[in-house]
Amino acid sequence: MRLAVASAAAILAVSCAVAQAAPDGNALFAANCAACHQADASGMAGQFPALKNRVGKIAATPEGKAYLADVLTHGLSGSIDAAGDSISGFMPSFARLSDEQIAAILSAVAAMGDTKPAPSFTVAEIAAARARSLTPAAVNAERATLDGKHKLP
Ligand code: HEC
Repeated sequence: MRLAVASAAAILAVSCAVAQAAPDGNALFAANCAACHQADASGMAGQFPALKNRVGKIAATPEGKAYLADVLTHGLSGSIDAAGDSISGFMPSFARLSDEQIAAILSAVAAMGDTKPAPSFTVAEIAAARARSLTPAAVNAERATLDGKHKLP
């Protein structure tokens, strides 16, 4: 009995340590995004936009960061032009992931490129996006406005 209590306490201690560790954005990207955007985030012509070397540039402005957080928390649909590639697709929302996980993924993707230092995302930025009420089509309209202000890569 004492042993069972001790091992339960040990398991609890280990799982608390795991819960407190910062999520691994690269591992989360591999698990959640690579099926479409490819393992190296280079995308697939006509279907899935490249993220590598683009997300870091988009994240260089506050509006760009807000847009990226909106894509992850609300999804994206309709036509886009990404580095000269026209895509008319649909990306599902990843609102089921935590703010910590989404911040870690976007920070990892922003670091896949030559933008130095790579912009990093905070949990508060993701929480603010999650609190907005947006459809995937509205996120596309936000993208068009952003593109008019700061030409997207
Ligand atoms: C089921 C396939 C799929 C998965 C999984 C997916 N995406 Fe997407 N993503 C897309 C498609 C398709 C688009 C373009 C949508 C459109 O054409 O309107 C897109 C667009 C994007 C954009 C906007 C790019 C731009 O140029 O504005 C970002 C950022 C993005 N995805 C990040 C991610 C991240 C990060 C993940 C993992 C958490 C992810 N995606 C998972 C299919 C996917």
